[in-house]
Amino acid sequence: MQYFDFRSDTTTHPTEKMRQAMASAQVGDDVYGEDPTVNALEQKAADMLGKEQGLFVTSGTMGNLVAVLAHCARGEEAIMGTQGHTFLHEAGGVSAVGGVVIHTVPNQADGTLALQDLQNALRNTDDIHEPVSKLVIIENTQNFCGGVPISLEYTEQVAAFASEHNLLLHLDGARIFNAVVALGLPASKLVAPVDSITFCLSKGLCAPVGSVLCGDAAFISKARRLRKMLGGGMRQAGIIAAAGIVALDEMVDRLAEDHRRAAMLAEGLRTNNKVHLTKNSPQTNMIFFTLDESVPLSVGEFLGAMKQEGILLMDSGPGEYRMVTHNDISDRAVEASLEAFRKVLS
Ligand SMILES: Cc1ncc(COP(=O)(O)O)c(C=O)c1O
Repeated sequence: MQYFDFRSDTTTHPTEKMRQAMASAQVGDDVYGEDPTVNALEQKAADMLGKEQGLFVTSGTMGNLVAVLAHCARGEEAIMGTQGHTFLHEAGGVSAVGGVVIHTVPNQADGTLALQDLQNALRNTDDIHEPVSKLVIIENTQNFCGGVPISLEYTEQVAAFASEHNLLLHLDGARIFNAVVALGLPASKLVAPVDSITFCLSKGLCAPVGSVLCGDAAFISKARRLRKMLGGGMRQAGIIAAAGIVALDEMVDRLAEDHRRAAMLAEGLRTNNKVHLTKNSPQTNMIFFTLDESVPLSVGEFLGAMKQEGILLMDSGPGEYRMVTHNDISDRAVEASLEAFRKVLS
């Protein structure tokens, strides 16, 4: 059976161009800094984001972990959102591996962290009882608040707050190019206020593996050692970096297609009175929704029934579901999913 997989944009497959680029990639030993394709990808990413240097890492999780470890010593504190991926879905790595203290503040409905909450979270540096506040982490797009594109104005405000309080600012920009496309701003402008950013090549941009961490030269040099420590020094990694270069060259602008299809999906779901869109969906490539109280299906039954119709989606709980549009989701896939909703919920 053929499935349309709406669970995540992480399920995308590499394009034909990527496979060709991978097959013919020039490679070397990247741990020695000798892989020309990795070097080219890192330079391209840094240039696009207006940062000094880039570092190719295995995943968004590794990028965020290396960034936090480069910014914070053991016992220092990183402030992040309760809906942030680094808090929710990175296996507590910053604490487990790095001894970094996590201090959460609630995400607002628009994905931001309120400046007053950040202010309240600050530690008293002179009190030896307290950990030292060191870092703020924001996310753009903010996944679990609805795939929200976070504005440049807000990013500037948090950066000003961070600098006023001697804190560093890291951006989990796993889907920063979705924000770039939605806001119509150059990436370098949108991320100019942050000290470091991780973005993913392997989500909407369709590369099979990898993320890039960007920042200034001193930070990347520290991060490079930490990546090695974590086992992320990959040798002839140009094979996968080659797909990343195609991702940056060819797959950024087309994210607008994913946003259009998310809007098409939302439009269709609005006509189904058994479905209630939540989180102001869609804001980029994600749709969140709940089912009407009158629907007698458990979560498992609903997901199972949709799967039988060839549609895969995700339980983002409690009582809420997520669908994500991406390069492997065509107009026909959206139409098929709307038909499946009608059938399963009738
Ligand atoms: C917002 C966000 N940050 C980080 C990650 C981690 O990326 P990876 O799965 O490559 O570790 C994800 C993955 O879905 C994500 O959605």
